[in-house]
Amino acid sequence: MKWQRKDLLGLRDVSEQEIQFILETAKPMKEVLFRSVKKLPTLRGKSVVTLFFENSTRTRTSFEIAGKVLGADTSSVTVAQSSVAKGESLLDTVKTIRAMQPDVVIMRHPSSGAAEYIANILDVSVINAGDGQNEHPTQALLDMFTLKEHMGELAGKKIIIVGDILHSRVARSNAYGLLKLGAEVIFAGPPTLLPLEMKTLGVQVTYDLDSVLPGADAVMPLRLQMERQQKGLLPTLREYNRVYGLNLKRMEQTGKQTLVLHPGPMNRGVEIESDLADSALSVIEEQVTNGVAIRMALIYLFVGGSANDVD
Ligand code: CP
Repeated sequence: MKWQRKDLLGLRDVSEQEIQFILETAKPMKEVLFRSVKKLPTLRGKSVVTLFFENSTRTRTSFEIAGKVLGADTSSVTVAQSSVAKGESLLDTVKTIRAMQPDVVIMRHPSSGAAEYIANILDVSVINAGDGQNEHPTQALLDMFTLKEHMGELAGKKIIIVGDILHSRVARSNAYGLLKLGAEVIFAGPPTLLPLEMKTLGVQVTYDLDSVLPGADAVMPLRLQMERQQKGLLPTLREYNRVYGLNLKRMEQTGKQTLVLHPGPMNRGVEIESDLADSALSVIEEQVTNGVAIRMALIYLFVGGSANDVD
């Protein structure tokens, strides 16, 4: 397959074939991460810019490592230390970045649609690193990569995503991607954080997590954003933890060795207990490693590589 897409804004309009191609491209990239010298000359002379208007540990760092391993020059714009803090608009910031001639721009922004907005301005590739409540496609790709490493093909696998679905770009991107790969996707959470309209994505929706756990192949609790309680969307964190919190005891209901994923950052003791997060069922740290491999694959594809010359 020849990679022809200019931008990665989300997985809603990405085909199954494109997803599989990205996941296949990430496999040799992951091998590079375990070499003693983690450096390829592949993208020497290319420039990668990350532009993050929201906090990030995993996504920004893994994009930066990914670009460096591929031999590109990476630069980060941190909003608090940039002219955005002096009132510069998104449009002027993006025009300024454009004038520096990057080869790819990776952006996280609190507004849904912000990545599409800048993609329409820039003639270089834009990768969405999370836009508001809309999509976080690279997170979903690394989740699918991790699941496939453990389960092979995902067709027919039962995958439950738990928690604050309403505000979650991770849940949306995973739903689009996992459904394209043939998985059965279930959203579970409290009614205030799980609108029934989510069914239109093609997922099942339930407020009763325990009823869907039997037979689950993977469960992914989402970070509960603490401000939800202040907004009256939750009674108490203790009540949330009682009904939706995941721990080893609750996971026994699946009746199998169910994988546990978490996009991070975790609220231990709220959506997940340490006995589970640090258990043999957890692939949370593998997700982080795989995030570097997926982001290497994406930078490589968008900056003009082909999938066959990673050596
Ligand atoms: N999963 C994720 O997006 O983590 P960061 O916010 O640390 O990038």
